Amino acid sequence: MSGKVKWGVVGSGGIARRRTIPEGIIPADNAVLVVVYDINGEVNTEVSQEYHAQKADSIEELLKTDIDAVYIATPANLHCEQVLTCARAGKHVLCEKPLGMTVDEAEKMITACKNAGVILDMAFMMRFHAQHQAALKMIQEGRLGELTYGRAQLSCWYPPMEGAWRQDPATGGGGSLMDMGGHCIDLMEMFFGKIAKVSCLINNTVHKYPSEDSAVATLSFENGALATVDNFFCIPDNSSKNVLELYGSHGSILAKNTVNQGDRGEMVACLEAADSGYNAQQTRADAQEMVIDPEPVNTYRAEIEQFGQAILEGRQPSCGSQAGLRSQKVLAACYESAKTGRVIDICWKKRGH
Ligand SMILES: NC(=O)c1ccc[n+]([C@@H]2O[C@H](COP(=O)([O-])OP(=O)(O)OC[C@H]3O[C@@H](n4cnc5c(N)ncnc54)[C@H](O)[C@@H]3O)[C@@H](O)[C@H]2O)c1
Repeated sequence: MSGKVKWGVVGSGGIARRRTIPEGIIPADNAVLVVVYDINGEVNTEVSQEYHAQKADSIEELLKTDIDAVYIATPANLHCEQVLTCARAGKHVLCEKPLGMTVDEAEKMITACKNAGVILDMAFMMRFHAQHQAALKMIQEGRLGELTYGRAQLSCWYPPMEGAWRQDPATGGGGSLMDMGGHCIDLMEMFFGKIAKVSCLINNTVHKYPSEDSAVATLSFENGALATVDNFFCIPDNSSKNVLELYGSHGSILAKNTVNQGDRGEMVACLEAADSGYNAQQTRADAQEMVIDPEPVNTYRAEIEQFGQAILEGRQPSCGSQAGLRSQKVLAACYESAKTGRVIDICWKKRGH
């Protein structure tokens, strides 16, 4: 294969048009946009004209063009069928989160891509945020000591709207937890490792649509650390700072506005001596504060380039479909906990083993 991956986009009118095409595929060093398809023909024509791409009138027509990979950015209930269609046509796939609606669907998609010999990747682009990568490096170097507690918040204002697919579990798979919690859970897994059990509460606090507008999940990790993720569709955009907090026995990393679509937030590390002893006065004067502000990386461009590189080199991508499956397992356990009121152990074994 040549040095550029030829891309098709399914669902060109949403996040694809807002972010992934202009910030990801177009500027990427190893990508070229060939063809777009959206069920909304008018929007699809506009996108094809904006980016000088061919336009297809169906996914089948898109798959007949000369492309290597497809980016799927449609509502969650369409992901499984569309990934299977792309796999049958021998195309590599970057699927938006969530990886289908259920664990079963995620497994089906992974098996179909494996059998077809194509690579399936998950669009957890927040992993590529430069400040998240800097925080991960500090954790891996042991600078926070033993990991103790984390929090990832992603909330917004999402009032009832006609046709809003996230507001109905039949099309969104769930509400604020499924939609935004997936990113938070994935980030916490990247920082803290495998999740062993969860407990979760969900609610419709303000908006009375069928999906939840409020969710708080508590995660317990195999290494003993705990974390919470909180996702609300009923907190005004400016009132949620999408905080990220990572604590360990030697310090913390505290951030605002990194858990979002942008490339730069505020992040500070507080690092203390390995054992500062007990301070009865709790004066808190000894910690060193360090601003973490590396050169920003556009997360959409990074996800396109890293997946493209994996295709060109014939290897698995850094995020990969297993991250999508793990996310589905944790989300399913959260919803089961919310329904039953129980703490749910996560079953990591492959089915039938
Ligand atoms: N990673 C991120 O930053 C991010 C942000 C937003 C959304 N997303 C994900 O992207 C996906 C789409 O979300 P969105 O916000 O763009 O939704 P959206 O509703 O804004 O856009 C979805 C697009 O898909 C099109 N569509 C619907 N049915 C289709 C079909 N059968 N075939 C082809 N196109 C069809 C719609 O016309 C629309 O243009 C979801 O999986 C969502 O979770 C990711």
